[in-house]
Amino acid sequence: MDMESICLVVPKKKTEPVRRRLLEKGMLRTNLQVVSDSKSVFLPVNQRVDLGYPIETREFTEVDAQINDYRQLVDVPDSLRPFLPSSYDVLGSVAIVKMSDEVLPHAKHIGNAIMAVQKSVKTVCVDEGVKEEYRTRQVRVVAGDGSTEITHKEYGLTFKLDVVKVFFSPRLATERDAVAKQVLPGEVIIDMFAGIGPFSIMIAKTRLPKVVHAIDTNPDAIQYLKENIALNKVSNVNPVLGDARKVIKDLEKADRIIMNLPHSAREFLLDALDALKPGGVIHFYEIMEDDELENRFHALADMAVSKGRVMTELSRRKVKSYSPTMGFYGFDLKFF
Ligand SMILES: C[S@@+](CC[C@H](N)C(=O)[O-])C[C@H]1O[C@@H](n2cnc3c(N)ncnc32)[C@H](O)[C@@H]1O
Repeated sequence: MDMESICLVVPKKKTEPVRRRLLEKGMLRTNLQVVSDSKSVFLPVNQRVDLGYPIETREFTEVDAQINDYRQLVDVPDSLRPFLPSSYDVLGSVAIVKMSDEVLPHAKHIGNAIMAVQKSVKTVCVDEGVKEEYRTRQVRVVAGDGSTEITHKEYGLTFKLDVVKVFFSPRLATERDAVAKQVLPGEVIIDMFAGIGPFSIMIAKTRLPKVVHAIDTNPDAIQYLKENIALNKVSNVNPVLGDARKVIKDLEKADRIIMNLPHSAREFLLDALDALKPGGVIHFYEIMEDDELENRFHALADMAVSKGRVMTELSRRKVKSYSPTMGFYGFDLKFF
Protein backbone atom coordinates (compact mmCIF):
# COMPACT_ATOMS: atom_id res chain seq x y z
CA MET A 1 0.00 0.00 0.00
CA ASP A 2 1.30 3.48 -0.80
CA MET A 3 1.13 6.38 1.60
CA GLU A 4 2.32 9.96 1.76
CA SER A 5 5.08 11.02 4.17
CA ILE A 6 7.48 13.87 4.70
CA CYS A 7 11.10 12.90 3.96
CA LEU A 8 14.66 14.21 4.01
CA VAL A 9 16.28 14.53 0.59
CA VAL A 10 19.89 13.43 1.15
CA PRO A 11 22.69 13.21 -1.48
CA LYS A 12 23.39 9.53 -2.18
CA LYS A 13 26.93 9.55 -0.79
CA LYS A 14 25.80 10.99 2.54
CA THR A 15 22.83 8.70 3.13
CA GLU A 16 24.23 6.06 5.49
CA PRO A 17 25.20 8.24 8.50
CA VAL A 18 21.96 10.23 8.18
CA ARG A 19 19.88 7.04 8.03
CA ARG A 20 21.57 5.71 11.16
CA ARG A 21 21.20 8.99 13.00
CA LEU A 22 17.48 9.04 12.21
CA LEU A 23 17.09 5.39 13.26
CA GLU A 24 18.85 5.97 16.55
CA LYS A 25 16.61 8.95 17.27
CA GLY A 26 13.52 6.89 16.36
CA MET A 27 12.66 9.37 13.55
CA LEU A 28 13.05 7.15 10.47
CA ARG A 29 9.79 5.53 9.34
CA THR A 30 11.07 1.97 9.00
CA ASN A 31 7.67 0.77 7.79
CA LEU A 32 8.13 2.76 4.55
CA GLN A 33 10.45 1.72 1.74
CA VAL A 34 13.24 4.23 1.08
CA VAL A 35 13.09 5.76 -2.42
CA SER A 36 15.98 7.09 -4.50
CA ASP A 37 16.70 8.74 -7.83
CA SER A 38 20.03 9.20 -9.62
CA LYS A 39 21.33 11.82 -7.12
CA SER A 40 19.37 11.60 -3.90
CA VAL A 41 17.83 9.25 -1.39
CA PHE A 42 14.46 10.14 0.16
CA LEU A 43 14.36 9.10 3.80
CA PRO A 44 10.80 9.05 5.22
CA VAL A 45 10.62 10.62 8.70
CA ASN A 46 7.91 10.91 11.32
CA GLN A 47 8.64 14.58 12.16
CA ARG A 48 10.42 17.62 10.74
CA VAL A 49 14.11 17.41 11.63
CA ASP A 50 16.77 19.96 10.75
CA LEU A 51 19.91 18.12 9.65
CA GLY A 52 20.67 20.64 6.92
CA TYR A 53 18.80 18.70 4.18
CA PRO A 54 15.68 19.72 2.28
CA ILE A 55 12.37 18.25 3.42
CA GLU A 56 9.59 17.37 0.99
CA THR A 57 6.46 15.24 0.83
CA ARG A 58 6.10 12.22 -1.47
CA GLU A 59 4.58 8.74 -1.85
CA PHE A 60 6.21 5.67 -0.21
CA THR A 61 5.34 1.97 -0.25
CA GLU A 62 4.59 0.36 3.13
CA VAL A 63 6.85 -2.58 4.09
CA ASP A 64 7.15 -4.89 7.07
CA ALA A 65 10.49 -3.95 8.65
CA GLN A 66 11.87 -4.87 12.06
CA ILE A 67 15.49 -4.18 13.06
CA ASN A 68 16.87 -6.54 15.71
CA ASP A 69 20.60 -5.84 15.62
CA TYR A 70 21.60 -2.55 17.23
CA ARG A 71 24.65 -2.40 14.94
CA GLN A 72 22.40 -1.68 11.98
CA LEU A 73 21.35 1.61 13.47
CA VAL A 74 24.14 2.80 15.75
CA ASP A 75 25.75 6.03 14.61
CA VAL A 76 29.56 5.50 14.69
CA PRO A 77 32.26 6.08 12.05
CA ASP A 78 32.55 3.14 9.64
CA SER A 79 36.18 2.52 10.66
CA LEU A 80 34.92 1.58 14.16
CA ARG A 81 32.21 -0.86 13.07
CA PRO A 82 34.47 -3.93 13.46
CA PHE A 83 34.95 -2.98 17.14
CA LEU A 84 31.24 -2.83 17.99
CA PRO A 85 30.34 -5.47 20.60
CA SER A 86 28.56 -8.39 18.94
CA SER A 87 26.75 -9.43 22.13
CA TYR A 88 25.82 -8.19 25.60
CA ASP A 89 24.03 -9.47 28.70
CA VAL A 90 20.47 -8.43 29.37
CA LEU A 91 19.35 -8.73 32.97
CA GLY A 92 15.71 -7.71 33.27
CA SER A 93 15.61 -4.10 32.10
CA VAL A 94 19.39 -3.58 32.23
CA ALA A 95 21.82 -4.31 29.38
CA ILE A 96 25.48 -4.74 30.34
CA VAL A 97 27.96 -4.32 27.52
CA LYS A 98 31.70 -4.88 27.38
CA MET A 99 33.27 -2.29 25.08
CA SER A 100 36.75 -2.01 23.68
CA ASP A 101 38.63 1.29 24.08
CA GLU A 102 38.02 2.09 20.42
CA VAL A 103 34.25 2.35 20.79
CA LEU A 104 34.06 3.61 24.40
CA PRO A 105 33.78 7.27 23.30
CA HIS A 106 30.59 6.21 21.47
CA ALA A 107 29.11 4.35 24.45
CA LYS A 108 26.06 6.61 24.62
CA HIS A 109 25.18 6.03 20.96
CA ILE A 110 25.63 2.28 21.43
CA GLY A 111 23.39 2.38 24.51
CA ASN A 112 20.69 4.36 22.71
CA ALA A 113 20.80 1.96 19.77
CA ILE A 114 20.43 -1.07 22.07
CA MET A 115 17.41 0.54 23.74
CA ALA A 116 15.94 1.35 20.33
CA VAL A 117 16.00 -2.31 19.19
CA GLN A 118 15.21 -3.88 22.55
CA LYS A 119 12.30 -2.00 24.03
CA SER A 120 12.41 -3.84 27.38
CA VAL A 121 15.89 -2.41 28.10
CA LYS A 122 15.64 0.78 30.15
CA THR A 123 19.26 1.20 31.28
CA VAL A 124 22.50 0.42 29.46
CA CYS A 125 25.75 0.07 31.41
CA VAL A 126 29.32 -0.43 30.32
CA ASP A 127 30.90 -3.40 32.10
CA GLU A 128 34.14 -2.22 33.71
CA GLY A 129 35.12 -5.56 35.22
CA VAL A 130 34.43 -7.52 38.39
CA LYS A 131 35.50 -6.29 41.82
CA GLU A 132 37.29 -8.75 44.01
CA GLU A 133 35.62 -9.79 47.22
CA TYR A 134 31.90 -9.74 46.42
CA ARG A 135 32.45 -10.45 42.69
CA THR A 136 30.24 -7.44 41.94
CA ARG A 137 30.46 -5.71 38.60
CA GLN A 138 31.88 -2.26 38.22
CA VAL A 139 29.50 -0.65 35.76
CA ARG A 140 28.96 2.83 34.32
CA VAL A 141 25.52 3.85 33.17
CA VAL A 142 25.73 5.28 29.63
CA ALA A 143 22.09 5.43 28.50
CA GLY A 144 18.58 5.18 29.89
CA ASP A 145 16.99 5.91 33.25
CA GLY A 146 19.90 4.64 35.38
CA SER A 147 17.97 2.17 37.52
CA THR A 148 20.01 -0.99 38.16
CA GLU A 149 17.60 -3.03 40.30
CA ILE A 150 16.03 -5.70 38.12
CA THR A 151 13.85 -8.79 38.17
CA HIS A 152 15.25 -11.76 36.27
CA LYS A 153 13.30 -14.90 35.40
CA GLU A 154 14.93 -18.28 34.83
CA TYR A 155 13.41 -21.78 34.78
CA GLY A 156 10.15 -20.37 36.16
CA LEU A 157 11.91 -18.73 39.14
CA THR A 158 12.04 -15.01 39.87
CA PHE A 159 15.16 -13.27 41.13
CA LYS A 160 15.32 -9.67 42.27
CA LEU A 161 18.76 -8.08 42.43
CA ASP A 162 20.76 -4.94 41.85
CA VAL A 163 23.36 -5.57 39.16
CA VAL A 164 25.73 -3.10 40.85
CA LYS A 165 25.45 -4.40 44.43
CA VAL A 166 25.58 -8.18 43.90
CA PHE A 167 27.02 -10.78 41.57
CA PHE A 168 24.67 -12.50 39.15
CA SER A 169 25.28 -14.28 35.85
CA PRO A 170 22.34 -15.33 33.66
CA ARG A 171 24.80 -17.43 31.65
CA LEU A 172 24.92 -20.04 34.43
CA ALA A 173 21.22 -20.92 34.23
CA THR A 174 21.80 -24.25 32.43
CA GLU A 175 24.56 -25.15 34.87
CA ARG A 176 22.29 -24.48 37.86
CA ASP A 177 19.65 -26.72 36.32
CA ALA A 178 22.23 -29.48 35.70
CA VAL A 179 23.35 -29.37 39.35
CA ALA A 180 19.81 -29.20 40.75
CA LYS A 181 18.86 -32.33 38.79
CA GLN A 182 21.51 -34.34 40.69
CA VAL A 183 19.99 -33.58 44.11
CA LEU A 184 18.08 -36.36 45.90
CA PRO A 185 15.18 -35.78 48.29
CA GLY A 186 16.20 -35.20 51.92
CA GLU A 187 19.75 -34.02 51.20
CA VAL A 188 21.50 -31.42 53.35
CA ILE A 189 23.13 -28.92 51.01
CA ILE A 190 25.57 -26.10 51.57
CA ASP A 191 25.79 -23.40 48.90
CA MET A 192 29.06 -21.86 50.08
CA PHE A 193 29.01 -18.77 47.85
CA ALA A 194 25.30 -18.41 47.31
CA GLY A 195 24.93 -14.81 46.12
CA ILE A 196 21.26 -13.92 45.73
CA GLY A 197 20.44 -17.64 45.77
CA PRO A 198 19.93 -18.96 42.24
CA PHE A 199 21.41 -22.43 42.96
CA SER A 200 19.85 -22.64 46.44
CA ILE A 201 16.38 -21.55 45.41
CA MET A 202 16.27 -23.72 42.29
CA ILE A 203 17.21 -26.78 44.38
CA ALA A 204 14.82 -25.90 47.21
CA LYS A 205 11.97 -25.34 44.79
CA THR A 206 12.43 -28.43 42.63
CA ARG A 207 14.25 -31.19 44.56
CA LEU A 208 12.82 -31.55 48.12
CA PRO A 209 16.12 -31.22 50.01
CA LYS A 210 16.01 -31.25 53.82
CA VAL A 211 17.64 -27.83 53.81
CA VAL A 212 19.95 -25.61 51.76
CA HIS A 213 22.31 -23.52 53.88
CA ALA A 214 23.05 -20.53 51.64
CA ILE A 215 26.14 -18.57 52.69
CA ASP A 216 27.42 -15.26 51.41
CA THR A 217 29.67 -12.59 52.81
CA ASN A 218 27.98 -9.72 50.94
CA PRO A 219 25.16 -8.24 53.09
CA ASP A 220 23.35 -6.98 49.96
CA ALA A 221 23.40 -10.49 48.48
CA ILE A 222 21.89 -11.93 51.67
CA GLN A 223 19.24 -9.20 51.71
CA TYR A 224 18.21 -10.06 48.13
CA LEU A 225 18.45 -13.78 48.92
CA LYS A 226 15.85 -13.29 51.67
CA GLU A 227 13.60 -11.37 49.27
CA ASN A 228 14.02 -14.08 46.64
CA ILE A 229 13.18 -16.83 49.13
CA ALA A 230 9.89 -15.01 49.78
CA LEU A 231 9.25 -14.22 46.10
CA ASN A 232 9.67 -17.88 45.13
CA LYS A 233 7.80 -19.17 48.20
CA VAL A 234 10.48 -21.61 49.39
CA SER A 235 10.87 -22.43 53.06
CA ASN A 236 13.90 -24.73 53.26
CA VAL A 237 16.67 -22.24 52.43
CA ASN A 238 18.65 -20.95 55.40
CA PRO A 239 20.42 -17.64 54.57
CA VAL A 240 23.74 -17.26 56.42
CA LEU A 241 25.71 -14.01 56.33
CA GLY A 242 29.43 -14.48 56.84
CA ASP A 243 32.73 -15.84 55.61
CA ALA A 244 32.02 -19.37 54.39
CA ARG A 245 35.30 -20.64 55.80
CA LYS A 246 34.18 -19.71 59.32
CA VAL A 247 30.42 -20.18 59.32
CA ILE A 248 30.55 -23.58 57.65
CA LYS A 249 32.04 -24.98 60.85
CA ASP A 250 28.78 -24.31 62.71
CA LEU A 251 26.53 -26.05 60.16
CA GLU A 252 25.40 -29.68 60.09
CA LYS A 253 27.44 -31.95 57.79
CA ALA A 254 26.35 -31.81 54.17
CA ASP A 255 25.54 -34.40 51.50
CA ARG A 256 26.40 -31.85 48.80
CA ILE A 257 28.34 -28.59 48.67
CA ILE A 258 28.27 -26.06 45.84
CA MET A 259 31.45 -24.02 45.46
CA ASN A 260 30.85 -21.30 42.90
CA LEU A 261 33.73 -18.90 43.54
CA PRO A 262 35.73 -19.73 40.46
CA HIS A 263 38.83 -17.61 41.06
CA SER A 264 39.52 -18.89 44.57
CA ALA A 265 37.31 -21.88 45.47
CA ARG A 266 40.47 -23.96 45.87
CA GLU A 267 41.42 -21.94 48.98
CA PHE A 268 38.19 -23.13 50.61
CA LEU A 269 38.30 -26.80 49.61
CA LEU A 270 39.85 -28.13 52.83
CA ASP A 271 37.20 -26.35 54.92
CA ALA A 272 34.51 -27.71 52.63
CA LEU A 273 35.84 -31.25 53.06
CA ASP A 274 35.56 -30.91 56.85
CA ALA A 275 31.87 -30.07 56.35
CA LEU A 276 31.12 -32.88 53.86
CA LYS A 277 29.73 -36.29 54.84
CA PRO A 278 31.65 -39.38 53.65
CA GLY A 279 30.42 -40.10 50.11
CA GLY A 280 29.28 -36.49 49.72
CA VAL A 281 29.49 -34.53 46.47
CA ILE A 282 31.10 -31.17 45.75
CA HIS A 283 30.23 -29.12 42.69
CA PHE A 284 33.48 -27.28 42.22
CA TYR A 285 34.04 -24.40 39.80
CA GLU A 286 37.33 -22.99 38.70
CA ILE A 287 38.60 -20.64 36.00
CA MET A 288 41.86 -21.92 34.56
CA GLU A 289 44.02 -22.15 31.48
CA ASP A 290 42.59 -24.90 29.26
CA ASP A 291 45.90 -26.74 29.14
CA GLU A 292 46.12 -26.76 32.95
CA LEU A 293 42.97 -28.85 33.35
CA GLU A 294 44.60 -32.20 34.13
CA ASN A 295 47.20 -30.74 36.50
CA ARG A 296 44.62 -28.74 38.42
CA PHE A 297 42.35 -31.74 38.66
CA HIS A 298 45.11 -33.92 40.11
CA ALA A 299 45.99 -31.15 42.58
CA LEU A 300 42.41 -31.34 43.90
CA ALA A 301 42.78 -35.09 44.40
CA ASP A 302 46.03 -34.46 46.33
CA MET A 303 44.27 -31.96 48.58
CA ALA A 304 41.63 -34.57 49.35
CA VAL A 305 44.33 -37.11 50.27
CA SER A 306 45.85 -34.57 52.67
CA LYS A 307 42.52 -34.70 54.52
CA GLY A 308 42.40 -38.51 54.43
CA ARG A 309 39.71 -38.49 51.72
CA VAL A 310 39.58 -40.24 48.36
CA MET A 311 38.21 -38.22 45.46
CA THR A 312 36.40 -39.66 42.47
CA GLU A 313 35.20 -37.69 39.51
CA LEU A 314 31.54 -37.97 38.54
CA SER A 315 31.80 -35.56 35.61
CA ARG A 316 33.48 -32.44 34.35
CA ARG A 317 32.53 -29.82 31.79
CA LYS A 318 33.62 -26.53 30.33
CA VAL A 319 30.72 -24.35 31.44
CA LYS A 320 31.82 -21.39 29.32
CA SER A 321 34.90 -19.82 27.81
CA TYR A 322 36.61 -17.16 29.86
CA SER A 323 39.26 -16.01 27.37
CA PRO A 324 40.75 -17.48 24.21
CA THR A 325 42.95 -19.76 26.33
CA MET A 326 40.96 -20.04 29.58
CA GLY A 327 37.72 -21.70 30.58
CA PHE A 328 35.23 -21.73 33.44
CA TYR A 329 35.19 -25.41 34.39
CA GLY A 330 32.75 -27.34 36.53
CA PHE A 331 33.61 -30.62 38.29
CA ASP A 332 31.18 -32.91 40.07
CA LEU A 333 33.39 -34.66 42.63
CA LYS A 334 32.60 -37.38 45.16
CA PHE A 335 34.70 -37.69 48.33
CA PHE A 336 34.87 -40.89 50.42
C1 LIG B 1 30.67 -15.94 41.70
S1 LIG B 1 29.53 -15.38 42.90
C2 LIG B 1 28.37 -16.71 42.87
C3 LIG B 1 26.99 -16.36 43.34
C4 LIG B 1 25.94 -17.39 43.07
N1 LIG B 1 26.35 -18.73 43.42
C5 LIG B 1 25.44 -17.34 41.64
O1 LIG B 1 25.57 -18.34 40.93
O2 LIG B 1 24.90 -16.32 41.23
C6 LIG B 1 30.44 -15.63 44.37
C7 LIG B 1 29.77 -15.12 45.63
O3 LIG B 1 30.63 -15.46 46.72
C8 LIG B 1 30.59 -14.45 47.69
N2 LIG B 1 31.81 -14.59 48.51
C9 LIG B 1 33.07 -14.19 48.24
N3 LIG B 1 33.89 -14.56 49.26
C10 LIG B 1 33.14 -15.23 50.15
C11 LIG B 1 33.42 -15.88 51.41
N4 LIG B 1 34.65 -15.88 51.92
N5 LIG B 1 32.40 -16.46 52.05
C12 LIG B 1 31.13 -16.46 51.54
N6 LIG B 1 30.82 -15.86 50.38
C13 LIG B 1 31.80 -15.26 49.69
C14 LIG B 1 30.48 -13.16 46.88
O4 LIG B 1 29.91 -12.13 47.65
C15 LIG B 1 29.58 -13.61 45.70
O5 LIG B 1 28.22 -13.33 45.97
